[in-house]
Amino acid sequence: MIPQDTVQQIIQAADIVEVVGEFVSLKKRGASMIACCPFHNEKTPSFNVSPSKGIYKCFGCGKGGDALRFVMDLEGLSYPDALRWLAKKYNIEVKEREFTDQDLINQNEKESLFIVLEYAQNYFAETMAKTEEGQSVGQSYFKERGFSKNAIEKFNLGYALDARSEFFKKAEKAGFSSDILEKAGLISIKDGDVKIDRFRGRVIFPIHNVAGKPIAFGARILKTDPKAPKYINSPETEIYHKSQIVYGIYQAKNAIRQADNCYLVEGYTDVVSLHQAGIENVVASSGTSLTPEQVRLIRRFSENITVLYDGDAAGIKASLRGIDIILEEDMNVKSVVFPNGEDPDSYIRKVGGAAFSEYVKNYQKNFINFKTELSLADVGNDPIKKAELIADLVTSITKIPNPIKRSVFYQEVAKMLQIDENILINEGNKYIKTKIGENKRFEKGDGGIISPAPPLRNQELEIIESLKKFNAQEESLVKDLVLYGHFVIEKDEETGQNHTLADYLFHETNDLKIETPIFHEIYQLYKTEYLNGNNPTTQMFSSNPNPQIQDIAVSWMSPKHELSDKWNTFEIFIPKYEEMLNEFSYKMVLRIRKEKIQKEIESLINEIDESSEEDLEIIMNTIGKKRGIIKLIAEELGSVV
Ligand code: CTP
Ligand code: MN
Repeated sequence: MIPQDTVQQIIQAADIVEVVGEFVSLKKRGASMIACCPFHNEKTPSFNVSPSKGIYKCFGCGKGGDALRFVMDLEGLSYPDALRWLAKKYNIEVKEREFTDQDLINQNEKESLFIVLEYAQNYFAETMAKTEEGQSVGQSYFKERGFSKNAIEKFNLGYALDARSEFFKKAEKAGFSSDILEKAGLISIKDGDVKIDRFRGRVIFPIHNVAGKPIAFGARILKTDPKAPKYINSPETEIYHKSQIVYGIYQAKNAIRQADNCYLVEGYTDVVSLHQAGIENVVASSGTSLTPEQVRLIRRFSENITVLYDGDAAGIKASLRGIDIILEEDMNVKSVVFPNGEDPDSYIRKVGGAAFSEYVKNYQKNFINFKTELSLADVGNDPIKKAELIADLVTSITKIPNPIKRSVFYQEVAKMLQIDENILINEGNKYIKTKIGENKRFEKGDGGIISPAPPLRNQELEIIESLKKFNAQEESLVKDLVLYGHFVIEKDEETGQNHTLADYLFHETNDLKIETPIFHEIYQLYKTEYLNGNNPTTQMFSSNPNPQIQDIAVSWMSPKHELSDKWNTFEIFIPKYEEMLNEFSYKMVLRIRKEKIQKEIESLINEIDESSEEDLEIIMNTIGKKRGIIKLIAEELGSVV
């Protein structure tokens, strides 16, 4: 864990213009800087950086945050990793000390694993470049496969000598203990003391994390030997979880974002081959079946995946399995099958990058067309087979969390297979209902069920509307607090004391509870700081570790619609928001109170049915009083213009 004061030091040091400027070229426009957004593809710049507020916001895709968030989102780093990235840039020493003993041991072990894997990566690369065996066996293998020097360097490919423990001896001399070498999966220890290298006589594909550090290795055999496995891979370790990484993500992430699409292939060699042919937005699932974590990793850079698996039966089966997992993560998926059982590597070597891209463009299919065409030959006129296909398609559709997308796909299947859309929807809803209870996801939200559902009754609509209004009022209260809480709105003539907006709001909302959880959280954060005698800054929220709070604060801080020049031309006077604050806040507090009392009245009305004669009188009385207050508030609101 990074100590809190170091975190603050890093956040303070991070200059938004310098940090963003490392990745995109910013141009000055008025008080802010603009650029083409690095998070989505655009030709005219809608990406804004405000040096004074320390934030960025894209008005095209909506991404926004502070310098730290920028590094997290652009580099795909975790919160602590992004902090370390910034610390390095600003030469701030990070002493990760506030650990329990066990944390410290774990942390040290992780660090050691990173170091030893980096050492191994260099060792294998040098072995290939500098030893005779490396050159004559490793290098010539890659040469034969047509891998360029560039590609070899980009992916840090290497070679492990065909010997029992050459690597171990070198590593031991370099000071690594056999314990850490074993934990890193680089050697195995037999009979208590015999150390054997895991990778022997194989070419090495290092597997990198998003930040580019090697975390594991895949090692390919060079001869055809049916008895030996084609690949030997690192075991799971403290820092390598196979199900959470895809091969090539570090080398591909920028290209994925630029193309807003990620090609997913099966093998290490497919990734390297495509890169070499100029197609860089590609990662590999490395032969295991795709996991939700892997899909989410890709999703940090794009919501679109095109599955390029082998054209053989196994490849097709794997891509079918992958489809539902991708859909479930709310991503868009297309699939391509290559001719005659070719894989992406062999095909691109045969036809070249341009023809490869052309082929993918022409033959990629969305999952509905893909599944339909695969089974069409089978289905023919067989109604049972057709029903199976429909059930399969409907099941896939129910995996999609987004209801709008779901309904679009229902329509598409209905059209394609000439079947009534409502029947499909009903089938889907039935399937979902049987899944409820089995699967946590369906317990939340709409459960995936979409109309035909009975229309909402008027009463329900009213409740929803009033909730929305309520929410908006709470938002504007909390927003004013965060943005303008320190503004002086009144000066006490007698004492000469200044009253800030925060003083006023806390005084007036003392007995109110903010109901919307996220606004409540922001309100409480502010209040705690305020009660400690501090003046909470907007930065406390725009740099908040909770991304939801950060998003909200940044959107408050960045003007949605910059006032255009035309207002100045017509010389229309627009009072500044800050100037109207005093009155605004007053009205807002009144409205929130009114809304609250309204709610109290409603719950009292609900009690009427079950109350005794005496209680009834009290209840009616209370309701009467509360209605009176509401009337007063309404009059006051009417008179405050
Ligand atoms: N794989 C593995 N262990 C094996 C076989 C395969 O881990 N015994 C994984 C590797 O990640 C491999 C991927 O599955 O990259 C795809 O397998 P395959 O197509 O057989 O290997 P390629 O890497 O494509 O190698 P080549 O092009 O030389 O056939
Ligand atoms: Mn392959």
